[in-house]
Amino acid sequence: MCEAQKAEKQKSQEGKERRSLLLFGLLLLTYPLLHFAGYRIPRKPRKIEVNTKIPATGIHTIKDVILFDKDGKSWAVSRKCTHLGCRISYHEVEGYLECPCHQSRFSPDGRVMHGPAKKALPVYEVEKHDQPPYYIISV
Ligand code: FES
Repeated sequence: MCEAQKAEKQKSQEGKERRSLLLFGLLLLTYPLLHFAGYRIPRKPRKIEVNTKIPATGIHTIKDVILFDKDGKSWAVSRKCTHLGCRISYHEVEGYLECPCHQSRFSPDGRVMHGPAKKALPVYEVEKHDQPPYYIISV
């Protein structure tokens, strides 16, 4: 192999390495760029099982959600405030959800009644059963 062929082969090898490195760099940047643009990998829904019967009031508070079973309908609302993420409580007498941090208020179906929160609370589907688990919430 003459010197010119060796140099040509080395140049070709360096070009392949450069392209591989560039491709690797693009792959590394793809997800952060998509994430920045708003893309999120859809996550698998989590199931919360409620194995106790809920009280006659039709309201049951769990760590992450508040379960409602009223007027023949069952639904669950997230307890994470859409303002800054504090944990919301349900005021049974007044009939609304309130955030203890900045007093945002939400209706039992998650709509904003009073700011500073601007987005409604996520509402989750609930399967109701006659035997335990009495409720299965898809979060
Ligand atoms: S965190 Fe809930 S109102 Fe601010």
